[in-house]
Amino acid sequence: MSSPEDLQWIAVVPSVELLPDKPHEVLIGENIFVLIRHGETIGAYQGQCPHQFARLVEGRVADGHINCPRHMAKFRLSDGICGPGWALPPLRRYTVKEDGGMVHICLQAIVDD
Ligand code: FES
Repeated sequence: MSSPEDLQWIAVVPSVELLPDKPHEVLIGENIFVLIRHGETIGAYQGQCPHQFARLVEGRVADGHINCPRHMAKFRLSDGICGPGWALPPLRRYTVKEDGGMVHICLQAIVDD
């Protein structure tokens, strides 16, 4: 397993532009990510819903979840798990840090134990 110092970080957005509970989309290469500042934390997730690939940047954040804009599946921000009534995989999550006024993400997805 890599230590945090070994990870490759990519600066993606100024911290001040990441508004509370307002999803922010980032394109890196051909991959879409969505960043969400919620309370004291920032999460980075795959940017498209695992159901039919709706862009989660158009979703609504409520009660600690991001709600997909198309069919309203909801995913818990803390771990990406999909809410009841769906059999979808959790959202892939990525490590985030703030440094020098920028939000950085690591493209190595978080793998839960
Ligand atoms: S595309 Fe997200 S719930 Fe269907």
